[in-house]
Amino acid sequence: MRTYRVAIVGTGGIAAVHADNLARTGGRAELVAACDVDQGRLDAFAQQHGIAGKHLTLTELLKEAKPDIVHLCTPPMMHIEQAIECLEAGVHVLSEKPPALSLADFDRLGEAQTKGGAQFSCVFQHRFGDASAAAQHLIGGAEFGRPLVARCDTLWYRPDSYWDLPWRGTWTAEGGGPTMGHGIHQFDLLLHLLGPWEEATAIASRQDRATSTEDLSAALVRFGNGVVATIVNSLLSPRETSDIRIDCEFATVELSHLYGYSTDNWTITGAPGHEEQVTGAWAGQALERGSGHSAQFLAMYDALDAGRPLPAGADSARQTLELAAAIYASAFTGTAVRRGEIVPGHPFYGGMDGEGMGTRALDATALASRV
Ligand SMILES: NC(=O)c1ccc[n+]([C@@H]2O[C@H](COP(=O)([O-])OP(=O)(O)OC[C@H]3O[C@@H](n4cnc5c(N)ncnc54)[C@H](O)[C@@H]3O)[C@@H](O)[C@H]2O)c1
Repeated sequence: MRTYRVAIVGTGGIAAVHADNLARTGGRAELVAACDVDQGRLDAFAQQHGIAGKHLTLTELLKEAKPDIVHLCTPPMMHIEQAIECLEAGVHVLSEKPPALSLADFDRLGEAQTKGGAQFSCVFQHRFGDASAAAQHLIGGAEFGRPLVARCDTLWYRPDSYWDLPWRGTWTAEGGGPTMGHGIHQFDLLLHLLGPWEEATAIASRQDRATSTEDLSAALVRFGNGVVATIVNSLLSPRETSDIRIDCEFATVELSHLYGYSTDNWTITGAPGHEEQVTGAWAGQALERGSGHSAQFLAMYDALDAGRPLPAGADSARQTLELAAAIYASAFTGTAVRRGEIVPGHPFYGGMDGEGMGTRALDATALASRV
């Protein structure tokens, strides 16, 4: 096993989670450098986490620190340019979500990966708990049976003050509201469990909050394997919860948590007459590790050690981003959107706002008393 040289770019809120989780990887990574445009934040972060290399630009960091992997913990609108710079320099990227603000931007990664021979991966830490691997293995198999119906709810609460940060709540900096910034984690996990989505019909609306994007979206999604799912992404919900429920022929699989889960957050119920086969199959799985950043980091090192493609790599991250684009496209055009339909020339290929369609639709329907 190799020890990977890791650098963190952007030393704000989530960077501390990365540094703490890197320290829990059992010596498989060394945090060698950090970068931020804010000197004070950079100094404090480096001191707190014992980081030797401090840089005010990514270009300088790449040149001097020579990392194997860069973690992008910067605001969303910076991810794509910084990812391309790293990849072209031959450095692997683990980017915080969302991976890009549009499919057009995302599709630039392919060339950068080829040019530098490095790989892109997106932080989707909920894929990496043991229970999600167990559920993925059992759903569709003999004991649980074919998945039929599902729901996926990200019901979170953010007061108006949440949008005080200058980059929050704008199409240009975040690419959207709870669909792109919050629920994306949960529906990424749903896709991980169920496979490719096929068609989406959605509503997005600004119900209450002082933001220029949606604060709520609700989608009805048909999957390639026939599953029909609802996906709700809300920042309006005082009792917060992140839930997935998948009903299969012989088993109901439920996950209920908030920002991360342990195995105890999962409930498995057998259909009448199938209880034993279902609980026995679940109990037979390895169910120790919960979700979280360190679980994804370790899976990434395992893949690099073995010369395999990175987990949560460009292909699967694109599917998740494409579903976000389809939710917006359907919501703002009033039509169902199929996978593969949003291509160059489509208004939602270049941005989640659909060339201003989102802004106009939300402004027209927002409650007059608040906006
Ligand atoms: N995976 C998760 O569960 C999770 C949770 C929270 C946030 N996030 C994501 O993490 C990212 C960062 O969010 P945050 O809350 O930490 O933001 P933040 O504003 O707290 O931190 C961002 C940092 O990036 C720095 N920065 C800005 N421009 C830079 C540049 N050009 N080069 C280097 N540094 C630069 C800022 O000075 C700041 O310190 C966002 O994409 C967000 O969606 C993910």
